[in-house]
Amino acid sequence: MSPVAVLAGIGSRLPPRLVTNDELAARLDTSDEWIRSRTGIARRYFAPDDMQTSDLAAAAGAEALKSSGESQVDTVVVATTTPDRPCPGTAPTVASKLGLGQPAAFDVSAVCTGFLYALANAAGLIASGVSERALVVGVETFSRILDPTDRGTSTIFGDGAGAVVLRAGRPDELGALGPCTLGSDGEGVDLITVPAGPEARYFTMQGKRVFWLAVQRMSQCAQEVLRQAEWRTTDVDHLVSHQANQRITWQLADEIGIPRERSVSNIAEVGNTAAASIPLALDHARAEGLIKAGDRLLLTAFGGGLTWGAAALRWPAVGRG
Ligand code: UT7
Repeated sequence: MSPVAVLAGIGSRLPPRLVTNDELAARLDTSDEWIRSRTGIARRYFAPDDMQTSDLAAAAGAEALKSSGESQVDTVVVATTTPDRPCPGTAPTVASKLGLGQPAAFDVSAVCTGFLYALANAAGLIASGVSERALVVGVETFSRILDPTDRGTSTIFGDGAGAVVLRAGRPDELGALGPCTLGSDGEGVDLITVPAGPEARYFTMQGKRVFWLAVQRMSQCAQEVLRQAEWRTTDVDHLVSHQANQRITWQLADEIGIPRERSVSNIAEVGNTAAASIPLALDHARAEGLIKAGDRLLLTAFGGGLTWGAAALRWPAVGRG
Protein backbone atom coordinates (compact mmCIF):
# COMPACT_ATOMS: atom_id res chain seq x y z
CA MET A 1 0.00 0.00 0.00
CA SER A 2 1.44 3.39 -0.95
CA PRO A 3 1.94 5.84 1.90
CA VAL A 4 -0.35 8.79 2.54
CA ALA A 5 0.48 12.14 4.16
CA VAL A 6 -0.38 12.33 7.85
CA LEU A 7 -0.43 15.61 9.77
CA ALA A 8 2.04 15.24 12.62
CA GLY A 9 2.61 18.76 13.94
CA ILE A 10 1.35 22.35 13.76
CA GLY A 11 2.59 25.81 14.72
CA SER A 12 2.02 29.47 13.95
CA ARG A 13 3.44 32.92 14.50
CA LEU A 14 2.08 36.45 14.37
CA PRO A 15 4.42 39.43 14.02
CA PRO A 16 4.67 41.78 17.02
CA ARG A 17 3.00 44.94 15.71
CA LEU A 18 -0.72 44.98 16.57
CA VAL A 19 -2.73 47.31 14.31
CA THR A 20 -6.23 48.23 15.50
CA ASN A 21 -9.11 49.42 13.34
CA ASP A 22 -8.91 52.78 15.11
CA GLU A 23 -5.27 53.16 14.08
CA LEU A 24 -6.29 52.65 10.42
CA ALA A 25 -9.32 54.94 10.81
CA ALA A 26 -6.97 57.71 11.96
CA ARG A 27 -5.39 57.85 8.49
CA LEU A 28 -8.06 56.40 6.17
CA ASP A 29 -11.69 57.33 5.47
CA THR A 30 -13.06 54.37 7.43
CA SER A 31 -14.21 53.46 10.94
CA ASP A 32 -13.94 50.64 13.47
CA GLU A 33 -17.70 50.19 13.09
CA TRP A 34 -17.53 49.79 9.27
CA ILE A 35 -14.63 47.33 9.39
CA ARG A 36 -16.17 45.18 12.14
CA SER A 37 -19.66 45.08 10.66
CA ARG A 38 -18.63 44.54 7.00
CA THR A 39 -15.71 42.13 7.57
CA GLY A 40 -15.67 40.91 11.19
CA ILE A 41 -12.11 42.15 11.61
CA ALA A 42 -11.13 43.86 14.88
CA ARG A 43 -7.34 43.83 14.58
CA ARG A 44 -4.44 42.45 12.55
CA TYR A 45 -0.66 42.28 12.90
CA PHE A 46 2.00 43.83 10.67
CA ALA A 47 5.63 42.73 10.44
CA PRO A 48 8.19 45.38 11.39
CA ASP A 49 10.64 46.47 8.67
CA ASP A 50 13.43 44.24 9.90
CA MET A 51 11.29 41.07 9.86
CA GLN A 52 11.36 39.05 6.66
CA THR A 53 8.73 36.63 5.39
CA SER A 54 11.28 33.83 5.94
CA ASP A 55 11.67 34.89 9.61
CA LEU A 56 7.93 34.50 10.25
CA ALA A 57 7.87 31.23 8.29
CA ALA A 58 10.84 29.82 10.22
CA ALA A 59 9.25 30.77 13.57
CA ALA A 60 6.00 28.98 12.67
CA GLY A 61 8.00 26.09 11.19
CA ALA A 62 10.06 25.67 14.36
CA GLU A 63 6.85 25.38 16.40
CA ALA A 64 5.37 22.86 13.97
CA LEU A 65 8.54 20.74 14.11
CA LYS A 66 8.54 20.85 17.91
CA SER A 67 4.88 19.88 17.99
CA SER A 68 5.62 16.89 15.70
CA GLY A 69 8.52 15.73 17.89
CA GLU A 70 10.76 15.67 14.80
CA SER A 71 13.82 17.76 14.13
CA GLN A 72 14.29 16.92 10.44
CA VAL A 73 12.25 16.97 7.25
CA ASP A 74 13.36 16.18 3.68
CA THR A 75 11.00 18.70 2.02
CA VAL A 76 10.02 22.31 2.72
CA VAL A 77 7.15 23.90 0.82
CA VAL A 78 6.34 27.57 1.40
CA ALA A 79 3.08 29.08 0.17
CA THR A 80 3.30 32.85 -0.06
CA THR A 81 2.26 35.87 -2.11
CA THR A 82 4.93 37.99 -0.44
CA PRO A 83 8.27 36.12 -0.73
CA ASP A 84 11.49 37.61 0.64
CA ARG A 85 12.55 38.30 -2.96
CA PRO A 86 11.01 37.78 -6.43
CA CYS A 87 13.82 35.27 -7.04
CA PRO A 88 14.83 32.79 -5.62
CA GLY A 89 12.07 31.08 -3.65
CA THR A 90 11.77 31.69 0.10
CA ALA A 91 11.64 27.98 1.06
CA PRO A 92 15.42 27.34 0.83
CA THR A 93 16.02 30.32 3.15
CA VAL A 94 13.42 29.00 5.60
CA ALA A 95 15.09 25.56 5.55
CA SER A 96 18.44 27.17 6.16
CA LYS A 97 17.16 29.36 9.03
CA LEU A 98 15.74 26.20 10.63
CA GLY A 99 19.03 24.31 10.22
CA LEU A 100 17.32 21.60 8.17
CA GLY A 101 20.36 20.73 6.04
CA GLN A 102 19.67 20.45 2.31
CA PRO A 103 16.07 19.36 1.83
CA ALA A 104 13.98 19.82 -1.32
CA ALA A 105 12.63 23.36 -0.92
CA PHE A 106 10.32 25.36 -3.15
CA ASP A 107 7.56 28.00 -3.09
CA VAL A 108 3.95 27.71 -4.18
CA SER A 109 2.14 30.79 -5.49
CA ALA A 110 -1.65 30.53 -5.32
CA VAL A 111 -2.41 33.60 -3.15
CA CYS A 112 -5.13 32.78 -0.56
CA THR A 113 -5.40 29.16 -1.79
CA GLY A 114 -1.63 28.77 -1.47
CA PHE A 115 -1.64 26.66 1.68
CA LEU A 116 -4.00 24.05 0.23
CA TYR A 117 -1.96 23.90 -3.00
CA ALA A 118 1.22 23.48 -0.93
CA LEU A 119 -0.41 20.80 1.23
CA ALA A 120 -1.51 18.85 -1.87
CA ASN A 121 1.97 19.17 -3.39
CA ALA A 122 3.69 17.88 -0.26
CA ALA A 123 1.13 15.09 0.13
CA GLY A 124 1.79 14.05 -3.48
CA LEU A 125 5.53 13.90 -2.87
CA ILE A 126 4.90 11.70 0.17
CA ALA A 127 2.44 9.43 -1.68
CA SER A 128 4.92 8.95 -4.52
CA GLY A 129 7.76 8.09 -2.14
CA VAL A 130 9.87 11.15 -3.06
CA SER A 131 9.48 12.57 0.46
CA GLU A 132 9.02 10.98 3.87
CA ARG A 133 8.53 14.09 5.94
CA ALA A 134 7.60 17.60 4.83
CA LEU A 135 7.23 21.02 6.41
CA VAL A 136 4.43 23.03 4.76
CA VAL A 137 4.22 26.73 5.59
CA GLY A 138 1.66 29.38 4.67
CA VAL A 139 3.15 32.82 5.32
CA GLU A 140 2.52 36.43 4.38
CA THR A 141 3.90 39.90 4.96
CA PHE A 142 0.93 41.29 3.04
CA SER A 143 1.30 44.72 4.69
CA ARG A 144 4.29 45.29 2.34
CA ILE A 145 2.10 45.21 -0.80
CA LEU A 146 -0.90 47.13 0.56
CA ASP A 147 -1.60 50.60 -0.85
CA PRO A 148 -1.71 52.66 2.37
CA THR A 149 -4.25 55.01 0.75
CA ASP A 150 -6.69 52.23 -0.26
CA ARG A 151 -9.29 51.62 2.46
CA GLY A 152 -10.70 48.70 0.46
CA THR A 153 -7.60 46.54 1.02
CA SER A 154 -5.59 48.18 3.82
CA THR A 155 -8.32 47.46 6.35
CA ILE A 156 -8.60 43.78 5.47
CA PHE A 157 -5.22 42.11 5.20
CA GLY A 158 -2.68 41.18 7.86
CA ASP A 159 0.64 39.37 8.26
CA GLY A 160 1.35 35.98 9.86
CA ALA A 161 2.48 32.41 9.37
CA GLY A 162 1.14 28.92 10.03
CA ALA A 163 2.89 25.62 9.42
CA VAL A 164 2.28 21.88 9.55
CA VAL A 165 4.54 18.84 9.44
CA LEU A 166 3.41 15.95 7.25
CA ARG A 167 4.87 12.44 7.52
CA ALA A 168 4.35 9.23 5.55
CA GLY A 169 1.67 7.09 7.16
CA ARG A 170 -1.48 5.01 6.58
CA PRO A 171 -4.90 6.22 5.36
CA ASP A 172 -6.69 4.87 8.46
CA GLU A 173 -4.57 6.95 10.88
CA LEU A 174 -5.91 10.13 12.48
CA GLY A 175 -4.28 13.05 10.67
CA ALA A 176 -4.33 11.30 7.28
CA LEU A 177 -5.09 13.83 4.57
CA GLY A 178 -8.29 12.77 2.82
CA PRO A 179 -9.59 13.73 -0.61
CA CYS A 180 -8.42 17.05 -1.98
CA THR A 181 -9.54 19.09 -4.98
CA LEU A 182 -7.93 22.14 -6.59
CA GLY A 183 -8.99 24.47 -9.39
CA SER A 184 -8.30 27.76 -11.15
CA ASP A 185 -9.74 30.27 -13.64
CA GLY A 186 -7.22 32.63 -15.21
CA GLU A 187 -10.05 34.64 -16.78
CA GLY A 188 -10.34 36.28 -13.35
CA VAL A 189 -6.68 37.35 -13.15
CA ASP A 190 -7.52 41.06 -12.82
CA LEU A 191 -9.92 40.65 -9.89
CA ILE A 192 -7.15 40.07 -7.33
CA THR A 193 -3.74 41.23 -8.50
CA VAL A 194 -0.58 43.23 -8.14
CA PRO A 195 -0.70 44.69 -11.67
CA ALA A 196 2.40 44.25 -13.83
CA GLY A 197 4.41 47.28 -14.96
CA PRO A 198 7.11 49.60 -13.69
CA GLU A 199 4.79 51.83 -11.64
CA ALA A 200 2.75 49.06 -10.08
CA ARG A 201 3.65 47.67 -6.70
CA TYR A 202 0.42 47.55 -4.78
CA PHE A 203 -2.16 44.83 -4.38
CA THR A 204 -5.63 45.52 -5.80
CA MET A 205 -8.91 43.62 -5.32
CA GLN A 206 -12.39 44.05 -6.75
CA GLY A 207 -13.94 43.07 -3.44
CA LYS A 208 -17.60 43.07 -4.35
CA ARG A 209 -17.13 40.86 -7.44
CA VAL A 210 -14.83 38.53 -5.54
CA PHE A 211 -17.23 38.11 -2.61
CA TRP A 212 -19.80 35.92 -4.38
CA LEU A 213 -17.22 34.07 -6.44
CA ALA A 214 -15.48 33.13 -3.18
CA VAL A 215 -18.71 31.74 -1.69
CA GLN A 216 -19.64 29.85 -4.89
CA ARG A 217 -16.24 28.33 -5.62
CA MET A 218 -15.51 27.30 -2.02
CA SER A 219 -18.94 25.74 -1.61
CA GLN A 220 -18.62 23.82 -4.92
CA CYS A 221 -15.20 22.35 -4.19
CA ALA A 222 -15.99 21.70 -0.52
CA GLN A 223 -19.07 19.74 -1.57
CA GLU A 224 -17.00 17.82 -4.11
CA VAL A 225 -14.58 16.81 -1.33
CA LEU A 226 -17.51 15.77 0.89
CA ARG A 227 -18.69 13.46 -1.91
CA GLN A 228 -15.21 12.01 -2.40
CA ALA A 229 -14.75 11.48 1.35
CA GLU A 230 -18.26 9.99 1.58
CA TRP A 231 -19.06 12.38 4.43
CA ARG A 232 -22.49 13.91 4.97
CA THR A 233 -22.65 17.58 5.98
CA THR A 234 -23.66 16.38 9.47
CA ASP A 235 -20.34 14.47 9.71
CA VAL A 236 -18.35 17.71 9.50
CA ASP A 237 -17.26 18.87 12.96
CA HIS A 238 -15.48 22.01 11.72
CA LEU A 239 -15.56 23.98 8.50
CA VAL A 240 -12.17 25.69 8.23
CA SER A 241 -12.42 28.12 5.34
CA HIS A 242 -10.06 30.84 4.17
CA GLN A 243 -10.60 33.78 6.52
CA ALA A 244 -11.47 36.47 3.94
CA ASN A 245 -14.52 38.02 5.55
CA GLN A 246 -16.81 36.82 8.37
CA ARG A 247 -19.80 37.33 6.08
CA ILE A 248 -18.21 35.03 3.48
CA THR A 249 -17.53 32.37 6.14
CA TRP A 250 -21.18 32.43 7.24
CA GLN A 251 -22.63 32.50 3.72
CA LEU A 252 -20.39 29.57 2.83
CA ALA A 253 -21.58 27.53 5.81
CA ASP A 254 -25.21 28.30 4.83
CA GLU A 255 -24.55 27.32 1.21
CA ILE A 256 -23.00 23.96 2.14
CA GLY A 257 -25.60 23.32 4.85
CA ILE A 258 -23.27 23.31 7.85
CA PRO A 259 -24.40 25.21 10.98
CA ARG A 260 -22.55 28.55 11.24
CA GLU A 261 -21.27 27.68 14.72
CA ARG A 262 -19.28 24.81 13.19
CA SER A 263 -17.23 27.23 11.08
CA VAL A 264 -13.88 28.09 12.62
CA SER A 265 -13.16 31.82 12.74
CA ASN A 266 -10.18 33.86 13.87
CA ILE A 267 -10.61 36.73 11.39
CA ALA A 268 -11.47 39.18 14.21
CA GLU A 269 -7.98 38.67 15.65
CA VAL A 270 -5.78 38.45 12.52
CA GLY A 271 -7.67 39.78 9.48
CA ASN A 272 -7.18 38.14 6.10
CA THR A 273 -3.69 36.60 6.13
CA ALA A 274 -3.97 35.08 2.63
CA ALA A 275 -1.77 31.94 2.35
CA ALA A 276 -1.31 31.84 6.14
CA SER A 277 -5.02 31.94 6.90
CA ILE A 278 -5.95 28.24 7.09
CA PRO A 279 -2.96 27.00 9.14
CA LEU A 280 -3.31 30.03 11.47
CA ALA A 281 -7.02 29.31 11.95
CA LEU A 282 -6.25 25.63 12.59
CA ASP A 283 -3.55 26.40 15.13
CA HIS A 284 -5.66 28.97 16.96
CA ALA A 285 -8.65 26.59 17.09
CA ARG A 286 -6.37 23.81 18.37
CA ALA A 287 -4.90 26.11 21.03
CA GLU A 288 -8.42 27.04 22.22
CA GLY A 289 -9.32 23.35 22.49
CA LEU A 290 -12.01 23.79 19.83
CA ILE A 291 -10.56 21.12 17.51
CA LYS A 292 -9.96 17.72 19.09
CA ALA A 293 -8.39 14.47 17.95
CA GLY A 294 -10.77 12.51 15.73
CA ASP A 295 -12.76 15.58 14.59
CA ARG A 296 -13.67 15.71 10.89
CA LEU A 297 -12.43 18.92 9.27
CA LEU A 298 -13.47 20.33 5.91
CA LEU A 299 -10.86 22.81 4.66
CA THR A 300 -11.51 25.20 1.77
CA ALA A 301 -9.96 28.31 0.27
CA PHE A 302 -10.35 30.78 -2.58
CA GLY A 303 -7.99 33.43 -3.85
CA GLY A 304 -6.20 35.27 -6.63
CA GLY A 305 -5.56 33.50 -9.89
CA LEU A 306 -8.39 32.86 -9.48
CA THR A 307 -7.67 29.71 -7.52
CA TRP A 308 -9.64 27.51 -5.13
CA GLY A 309 -9.39 24.22 -3.33
CA ALA A 310 -10.73 21.98 -0.57
CA ALA A 311 -9.55 19.01 1.47
CA ALA A 312 -10.87 16.62 4.11
CA LEU A 313 -8.87 15.83 7.24
CA ARG A 314 -9.40 13.77 10.44
CA TRP A 315 -7.66 15.80 13.14
CA PRO A 316 -4.81 13.95 14.90
CA ALA A 317 -3.64 14.21 18.52
CA VAL A 318 -1.15 17.06 18.09
CA GLY A 319 -0.08 19.40 20.84
CA ARG A 320 1.71 22.67 21.17
CA GLY A 321 5.24 23.01 19.91
O1 UT7 B 1 -8.74 36.71 0.18
C1 UT7 B 1 -9.06 36.54 -1.18
C2 UT7 B 1 -10.52 36.62 -1.41
N1 UT7 B 1 -10.99 37.88 -0.93
C3 UT7 B 1 -12.27 38.03 -0.69
O2 UT7 B 1 -12.98 37.08 -0.81
C4 UT7 B 1 -12.79 39.40 -0.31
C5 UT7 B 1 -14.19 39.53 -0.74
N2 UT7 B 1 -14.78 40.84 -0.58
C6 UT7 B 1 -15.08 41.40 0.61
O3 UT7 B 1 -14.75 40.85 1.66
C7 UT7 B 1 -15.87 42.66 0.63
O4 UT7 B 1 -16.35 42.91 -0.68
C8 UT7 B 1 -15.09 43.90 1.13
C9 UT7 B 1 -14.84 43.79 2.62
C10 UT7 B 1 -13.79 44.02 0.37
C11 UT7 B 1 -15.93 45.14 0.88
O5 UT7 B 1 -17.19 45.02 1.56
P1 UT7 B 1 -18.55 45.31 0.78
O6 UT7 B 1 -19.63 45.15 1.76
O7 UT7 B 1 -18.59 44.42 -0.44
O8 UT7 B 1 -18.43 46.79 0.41
P2 UT7 B 1 -18.47 47.46 -1.04
O9 UT7 B 1 -17.19 47.22 -1.76
O10 UT7 B 1 -19.76 47.12 -1.71
O11 UT7 B 1 -18.56 48.95 -0.64
C12 UT7 B 1 -19.73 49.51 -0.01
C13 UT7 B 1 -19.42 50.94 0.38
C14 UT7 B 1 -18.82 51.74 -0.76
O12 UT7 B 1 -19.27 53.06 -0.67
P3 UT7 B 1 -20.43 53.61 -1.62
O13 UT7 B 1 -19.90 53.42 -3.01
O14 UT7 B 1 -21.61 52.74 -1.32
O15 UT7 B 1 -20.57 55.01 -1.19
C15 UT7 B 1 -17.35 51.68 -0.48
O16 UT7 B 1 -16.65 52.78 -1.02
O17 UT7 B 1 -18.45 50.95 1.42
C16 UT7 B 1 -17.34 51.72 1.03
N3 UT7 B 1 -16.13 51.15 1.62
C17 UT7 B 1 -15.71 51.48 2.83
N4 UT7 B 1 -16.18 52.36 3.73
C18 UT7 B 1 -15.52 52.49 4.88
C19 UT7 B 1 -15.31 50.21 1.11
N5 UT7 B 1 -14.33 49.94 1.96
C20 UT7 B 1 -14.54 50.73 3.05
C21 UT7 B 1 -13.90 50.90 4.29
N6 UT7 B 1 -14.40 51.80 5.16
N7 UT7 B 1 -12.78 50.22 4.61
